[in-house]
Amino acid sequence: MLVVDPPYNLNKAYGNTDFKQMSADGYRAFTENWIVAVKRLMKNTATVYVCCDWKSSLIIGSVLQKYFNVQNRITWQREKGRGAARNWKNSMEDIWFATMSPKTFTFNIDDVKMRRKVIAPYKIDGKPKDWVESDSGNFRDTYPSNFWDDISIPYWSMPENTDHPAQKPEKLIAKLILASSNPGDVVFDPFLGSGTTAVAAKKLGRHYVGIECEVEYCALAQKRLEMADDDAEIQGYSDGVFWERNTLALQQKAKAKSRVSSSGQQSLRFDAPEQDAAL
Ligand SMILES: C[S@@+](CC[C@H](N)C(=O)[O-])C[C@H]1O[C@@H](n2cnc3c(N)ncnc32)[C@H](O)[C@@H]1O
Repeated sequence: MLVVDPPYNLNKAYGNTDFKQMSADGYRAFTENWIVAVKRLMKNTATVYVCCDWKSSLIIGSVLQKYFNVQNRITWQREKGRGAARNWKNSMEDIWFATMSPKTFTFNIDDVKMRRKVIAPYKIDGKPKDWVESDSGNFRDTYPSNFWDDISIPYWSMPENTDHPAQKPEKLIAKLILASSNPGDVVFDPFLGSGTTAVAAKKLGRHYVGIECEVEYCALAQKRLEMADDDAEIQGYSDGVFWERNTLALQQKAKAKSRVSSSGQQSLRFDAPEQDAAL
């Protein structure tokens, strides 16, 4: 599979390279150029995800449609964004999901469920309906939608944070990799930056290949890959599910419980409901 996070059509400095905003036609040609090059490497069952801001998305979406089967567009609400005096603040990004084949592709829905706190704990005959009561709280494991509001951009106190000006969160890339590849598959990112795709792939037992033109960013990626040998944690993903924002304390509590459980002292079972009524 491919995870691609190309320079958006904005003036931006990436280390020693200044990416200069282009005309729409120029950016279309730039996009078509790398899409044609990477498509040659893809298997008939492969998937490609492409990240973009709303403006680049207008072009990237239409180029993807020309070469692939577009399956969906994910909206990531990344929260942080620069305020604008005469426009709405940009606080979302698109991630296009496209496949080589219209029907034959990997999609592991059970590997990307989202654990949500239950606000209205509905019971039937005294038993929870599609949610689970535990010592850590009441939760429901839900099917993920194409609107992602559980992921913040890496901030200074997170171990994954680097000086790269457009670094993606590992949690975001992990969702894509878990959904659309299997352990042992190859994940390729032709605009690797600080290495997020390769690091998430390594932590999740996939092979990885990346290309990055800035030597300094290659060094960041290399360092992060080495750090992954000692710490394979992906912030916001534990117990086989993705957690809502601001639930670190709950995640730690659940983790501590399952550690006790695996040492045989106490047992906490968290069975996801078979079907989610909130689909
Ligand atoms: C949006 S960033 C990718 C960030 C990456 N996903 C991460 O998490 O660190 C795009 C990367 O493409 C690289 N790049 C490759 N070709 C480029 C080009 N022609 N112009 C500008 N940047 C280019 C930049 O150096 C930059 O690191």
